[in-house]
Amino acid sequence: MPKEYLPKIRRIAINTGGGDAPGLNAVIRAATLAALDRGWEVLGIRRGYMGLLQDEVDGEPGLMDLSDRVRGITHLGGTILGTTARGNLFGLEPRQPDGTWGPTDPSDDIMQRFGELGIDALVAIGGDGSLKIAHRLFLKGLRVVGVPKTIDNDLGATDMTFGFQTAVDVATEAIGRLHSTAEAHQRVMVVQVMGRHTGWIALESGLAGGADVILVPEIPYSVDRIAAKIVERERNRRRFSIIVVAEGARAAGGSPSYVEGTGRYGGIADRLAAEIEAATGKETRTLTLGHIQRGGSPVPYDRNLALRFGAAAVHAIEMGNFGCMVALQGKAVRSVPLGEAVTDIKRVDPMGEVVRTARRLGVSFGD
Ligand code: F6P
Repeated sequence: MPKEYLPKIRRIAINTGGGDAPGLNAVIRAATLAALDRGWEVLGIRRGYMGLLQDEVDGEPGLMDLSDRVRGITHLGGTILGTTARGNLFGLEPRQPDGTWGPTDPSDDIMQRFGELGIDALVAIGGDGSLKIAHRLFLKGLRVVGVPKTIDNDLGATDMTFGFQTAVDVATEAIGRLHSTAEAHQRVMVVQVMGRHTGWIALESGLAGGADVILVPEIPYSVDRIAAKIVERERNRRRFSIIVVAEGARAAGGSPSYVEGTGRYGGIADRLAAEIEAATGKETRTLTLGHIQRGGSPVPYDRNLALRFGAAAVHAIEMGNFGCMVALQGKAVRSVPLGEAVTDIKRVDPMGEVVRTARRLGVSFGD
């Protein structure tokens, strides 16, 4: 685009929304430094959009000047901006007496505040929910560039999201450690990992960690098939088994397991363990890894991807490429339209090369 048509940018803002993922701070650092390098000001908005509408959030100013706040944060987990809970559209609607969130749509107020503060563009870092919100604001006229984030690695438009490799690392380490204790006691261990809609963490950590059974939402399982695998190992004098299950996995013809009254996935490991124990007579224990998969320092891969995404988001703003999301496609970071980016979920292909490799190595998928 000829230089005279490029947008005049003086000030940008950055926010983080939804569940955290290791690497968020690296994105914030890279986007901030890239913007400062262009002579722009950078504001961090605390807790999604909350800091835009409230002068104070949790006793701190809602907005923070990021120019001197991003040193030494590449390796830090969490987000220095804080984030918002899932299911709470903008993190702002007043709670109703019954505990649900009200139907208030604060997007007009948000647009007004961006105008008042002279913010020329927003880098919105988030998962599918937060990016849908960013897209909505783009349709209202906000200059937005999205940065994809989720440890689940299930956003269709990008080959990889940062945080995923860290989660796989944590899960693989846990699975590896369970081998010796499972073998010592001749037990079956069921490890529950994150993955609501997709089984990427289960597949990659299960394969790397030497699991005997990997259960993913994309391949419904049968307890009989799992029991058959355990019995077969027993016959081969392998008297212990490790099962890795994604939290959103389900039996063929069954439904996923939810934590009662919350709508959150959970409990699949305990449910399975009871069924496996009944079917095989083998003592079966469980481990739910939970948020430890999202905590702590990002592995180098996630840091670098996050840094590249942050820098690319600022480049997109400079080029006037709004309403897009940065994405890894092959080896290159590109930008894709936000509207398309948030519609597709990337699922494990049951016929794909990784699943076929695992099967050839003797891994059962319970089908
Ligand atoms: O989206 C990532 C994810 O890790 C899911 O796999 C999991 O269900 C969810 O976040 C849990 O997040 P929270 O407990 O913060 O709602």
